[in-house]
Amino acid sequence: METMMRNAFLYLSKNRMANRTAKRYGLKFGAKRFVAGVQIADAIQAIRELNSRGIVATLDHLGEFISTEKEAADAADYCIRTLEAIAESGVRSHLSLKMTQLGLDISEELCLKHMRMILDIARKNAQFVRIDMEDYAHNEVSLRIFKTLREEYGETVGLVIQAYLYKSLDDIADLATYKPNLRLVKGAYKESSEVAYPDKADVDKNFMVMIEEHLKNGCYAAVATHDDNIIAHVKRFVQEQQIPNSQFEFQMLYGIRTQAQQELANEGYTMRVYVPYGDDWYGYFMRRLAERPANVWFVLKSMFKS
Ligand code: FDA
Repeated sequence: METMMRNAFLYLSKNRMANRTAKRYGLKFGAKRFVAGVQIADAIQAIRELNSRGIVATLDHLGEFISTEKEAADAADYCIRTLEAIAESGVRSHLSLKMTQLGLDISEELCLKHMRMILDIARKNAQFVRIDMEDYAHNEVSLRIFKTLREEYGETVGLVIQAYLYKSLDDIADLATYKPNLRLVKGAYKESSEVAYPDKADVDKNFMVMIEEHLKNGCYAAVATHDDNIIAHVKRFVQEQQIPNSQFEFQMLYGIRTQAQQELANEGYTMRVYVPYGDDWYGYFMRRLAERPANVWFVLKSMFKS
């Protein structure tokens, strides 16, 4: 049943018609729980509130289905405006982005051009930009672009590596010479068993090994998970290996396990929350429901309230 619902929500997340309709009506069906708002000002306000409780953020302007150069240029412009808004407001936040929004499916050169425009601003403002990792089809090209940008922009840019992919441990070893700041996650897309572990237990095991390897390589790790077992494992490992708190952080998604977020911040760990905003909220919202069909309850409640 759970797998059926997961697949149904992942299918719905790709529905362009529903996506277009959702844009017209603002945040609905309980999406407010996971999306900070439609306007940048809403997102900045949400981050201010997090910052006031000792939690930092990474801000993501949501976007799906880019197919023209104009749409990709608009998305790049949004990223730049988001960076400027963070700098002007003085909130403590990074930027996260998806390279398909910046035209990666149109051409690698176009995407690189937009990435350089964004990173020029980030470097000028001493900000950090994280490239989210998308599905397997974009994995190799994302690694290639990241290496190029890391050489040009140094610590201004970071990447994500997914534990469900068989290749990820090799990627971590390969990237070690760049001393990269990596966000490590389980992986959110539907992938074939030819490239990804089908069993959750194997993903979890690989996740822990990846985190250990990356930290032992002396690199900065952003451990992005809501999983108590993984979090407990990281806490134990860093203590045993005497790895300082300044070499890693925990990350969670906006609206998910908010109490656990607060507890980690109170314990003195860097806790960063991924804050999505924008009118293109529909696909992101469906993927959150796919991760945890129990969240559908919030949707049903909010439908009856409105
Ligand atoms: P898991 O799914 O096993 O969940 C562990 C526990 O957490 C659950 O039992 C539940 O208690 C709680 N939980 C998890 N999801 C929940 C939800 N939606 N609602 C309520 N409770 C929930 N993926 C990717 O492929 N590329 C990327 O760039 C990113 N980026 C990213 C950034 C950040 C900050 C986070 C937290 C996650 C990502 N992800 C991602 C998503 C990631 O790959 C993964 O799909 C989700 O984090 C869910 O996996 P968990 O590690 O939380 O474990």
